[in-house]
Amino acid sequence: MAEVRDILVTGGAGQVGLALRRLDWPAPFRLVAPTRAELDLTDAGTVEALFARHAFAAVINPAAWTAVDRAESEPAAAFAANATAPARLAEACRAADIPLVHVSTDYVFDGALAWPYREDDPVAPPGVYGASKLAGELAVRAIQPRSVVLRTAWVVSPDRANFLKTMLRLAAERDVVRVVADQHGCPTAAADIAAALQTITLKLIADREAPTGVFHFAGAGETSWAGFAEAIFAASRARGGPSATVEPIPTTDYPTPARRPANSRLDCRRISGAYGIIPRDWRAATDEITGQVLAASAEGATP
Ligand SMILES: NC(=O)c1ccc[n+]([C@@H]2O[C@H](COP(=O)([O-])OP(=O)(O)OC[C@H]3O[C@@H](n4cnc5c(N)ncnc54)[C@H](OP(=O)(O)O)[C@@H]3O)[C@@H](O)[C@H]2O)c1
Repeated sequence: MAEVRDILVTGGAGQVGLALRRLDWPAPFRLVAPTRAELDLTDAGTVEALFARHAFAAVINPAAWTAVDRAESEPAAAFAANATAPARLAEACRAADIPLVHVSTDYVFDGALAWPYREDDPVAPPGVYGASKLAGELAVRAIQPRSVVLRTAWVVSPDRANFLKTMLRLAAERDVVRVVADQHGCPTAAADIAAALQTITLKLIADREAPTGVFHFAGAGETSWAGFAEAIFAASRARGGPSATVEPIPTTDYPTPARRPANSRLDCRRISGAYGIIPRDWRAATDEITGQVLAASAEGATP
């Protein structure tokens, strides 16, 4: 039997980390997916010790400081997790001569473009979170060229706190929900991101000539947060779950510490051409995840 080969996944308790853990991984590969409590990437000694103990075949890094608004008041913490930590992982991957697959964000763009962003469009992060993620991207690419940076957007799943779960909770509490209608993007299932990361990682391990660099991956199609909320409620209603009326509002009526891009849409043609990865329509993913969330809460309610 072939010797087991470990792939490190960081942030094992995050939306994408959990989705990666749910995938089947072909032999001889096995995931090592520590949570932050088990592997804090801001602790250089712990990261070094882990790499000294393990001969990883590759590293996938979805771990991040994802509190977009809190990053404005805690920039050092955001940069430690989103810039310094990926640089540290890239150093370790370069030393071990293994590929690094790093996850980044649409928030590296300011949202001023009138059409979906391509990988080489100019970056201009509107806030600290985006700036910290951009610094991480640049470090990864500079330190370990055998790497892929996967930018994604509007991530949802049955896990953790996310927009979809917030909408279902609000619909159970009130009849009308006010939702921003002038920010546009592509809702993306964490499970689909995980599948894309798996395809890329296995290819990078198998083929030293596999495509590297920045790739966009997000749900196919586009909507606004208000349109997304409508779709969540439609999927919920169809299953007898909570629903509310969506009152579309402008961003100016929902002030937040961090500015968000008005246009978060990502053009995903490059990843389709390079890796044959075709994003799923965001509505299908929304319907599926809404069903999963409702089923989980129904199970929780059963004595
Ligand atoms: N969520 C979105 O809408 C969105 C949009 C675009 C891009 N992205 C990017 O997609 C990736 C995955 O996002 P997600 O939604 O899965 O995020 P998430 O659910 O917030 O998970 C992030 C994980 O990273 C962990 N983490 C944070 N700091 C860490 C550290 N210092 N060391 C180790 N682990 C640490 C967190 O630990 P705890 O469990 O302790 O919190 C959490 O488990 C991130 O790179 C994010 O920037 C997300």
